[in-house]
Amino acid sequence: MNRREFLIGMAGAMCAGSLRLAHAQTVQGLKDAYAKDFLIGSALGGHLPNSYNAKELALITTHFNAATPEVCMKPRPMQPKEGTWRFADADAYVDFCQKNSIVAFGHTLMWHEDCPDWFFEDGKTTASRKLVLERLRNHIQTILLRYKGRIRGWDVVNEAISDSSKDYFRKTKWLETIGDDHVYQAFKFAHEADPGMQLQYNDYSIEREPKRSKTIKLLKELKSKGIPVTAVGIQGHWQLDNVPFTDLEKAINEFSALDIKVMISELDMDVLPRRSPTTPASAPAKTQPATPELLKRQADQYAKLFAIFYKHRGVITRVAFWGIDDAHTWLNNWPTRGRYNHPLLFDRNGNPKPAYDAVIRIPQGG
Ligand code: GLA
Repeated sequence: MNRREFLIGMAGAMCAGSLRLAHAQTVQGLKDAYAKDFLIGSALGGHLPNSYNAKELALITTHFNAATPEVCMKPRPMQPKEGTWRFADADAYVDFCQKNSIVAFGHTLMWHEDCPDWFFEDGKTTASRKLVLERLRNHIQTILLRYKGRIRGWDVVNEAISDSSKDYFRKTKWLETIGDDHVYQAFKFAHEADPGMQLQYNDYSIEREPKRSKTIKLLKELKSKGIPVTAVGIQGHWQLDNVPFTDLEKAINEFSALDIKVMISELDMDVLPRRSPTTPASAPAKTQPATPELLKRQADQYAKLFAIFYKHRGVITRVAFWGIDDAHTWLNNWPTRGRYNHPLLFDRNGNPKPAYDAVIRIPQGG
């Protein structure tokens, strides 16, 4: 290299360096990069803030301006027995969000999982529709009134649509005891309890058929019955080599045509082969090392996804990850325990992965 080439190289490096510096000064974290576009959320678990160490807490407050409670607001943890309420974790979650300027969302009021049987029992017999509705109303109203004004929106109902193409609704105890209007009733009680609350329907695979059409049918029915559904949550538990880009865009367009906003509510990208959920949890753990090749493929897929989200930023109001980093993901333990998965933007030590760099660049033109 001669002196001239050396000086040109230095100037280039300094210029690139100062551009990077300028970028770093304006963009503090993911939430700042997307500040004009949509909220960036994460599921938060345990009893906040003690459930996270100092580095993890810094990661949360740097990158996320929205949150979802991972477990504590589900039906069983909230009211394990009729009239026995457990508010401690949920109160701590809401306080933490408020103290850290994080928009708190609620999850979830009606779900078939993590839901105690007492809702559906009357002594030794099945409870009547009237009794189940009374209990549902009481459950929803108690929670919504307690957190009124501190939670922006609720996943009122989670995963009520059937995976099969034959059935409309999933066969649950809610459907069995209340009937076909069980979803409507939950939304009605939530809306009555807090008319200012944003109402969300949340589910997986609703970006594709057979669930997409049924979701559209449900959203139309709810709206025609006077329920102002605010948003639909596409969970987004996707797999590295099977991200449904085309269906996703179609779904965003079709949901927004109903004048309903879209949230990506539980985003992660599984890098391990999925095994049947019936595989025993004790089956040997599958691991896949996070090789540079794998991380690059994941970065490319995340970049494509966020390019779609960014393009539809007028419709998408929140993109939330299901966990803060690869140490905090349900995919380490599902469908079998003790896996070593890498589905999020930060590694097990909370350090940014190539996918993070790819995602944060999108609003700056990729
Ligand atoms: C579903 C639920 C979430 C969470 C995730 C993964 O998608 O909505 O609450 O349980 O599964 O664990």
